[in-house]
Amino acid sequence: MDRNEALSLLKEHVTTESLLGHCIATAAVMKGLAKELGEDENLYELIGILHDIDFQEIDEDMEKHGEVGYEILKAAGIGDEIALPIRRHNHMLFDGEYTETVEICLQTADSVSGLVIACAYVKGGKITEVTPKTVTKKYKAASFAAGCDRNRIAMSDSLLPRERMYEIAINEITEVRDELGLT
Ligand SMILES: [Fe+2]
Repeated sequence: MDRNEALSLLKEHVTTESLLGHCIATAAVMKGLAKELGEDENLYELIGILHDIDFQEIDEDMEKHGEVGYEILKAAGIGDEIALPIRRHNHMLFDGEYTETVEICLQTADSVSGLVIACAYVKGGKITEVTPKTVTKKYKAASFAAGCDRNRIAMSDSLLPRERMYEIAINEITEVRDELGLT
């Protein structure tokens, strides 16, 4: 499976621009973290793209988040290498159980992507003006982009320095900025 095939599958189940953008940004961060950590970039990117595939279909029933996604992916013939981390990424069900590198990266990418994009909005949509310093400052402001769980962002501290993680997140989201409507 390549990036375009994953995006096509995602778009069969996700229609809102904001959620598509979230998946694209999360995938970009996943790919960057994989590269940094010597992991499989393509695999990480696909997991990022597909991780919230069930979000519209569960209709805010968060108990089903991940489980329904897993069923969608299995029905589409996707293997467990991709489908299992997605099944388990719902931190409301599996918090405290993340020990695999791919699962830790997904927790961090899922949350830091929103924080970095919110930082870009503050700068008039210019992701090119966001720096690790900007993100560090906004991370500490708990009321800023409050939905971006700081504890989940911090999970990657066990894998790489925080500043470097921010740098990767910014660089990778910058690469896909056209798809996110950022400049
Ligand atoms: Fe997500």
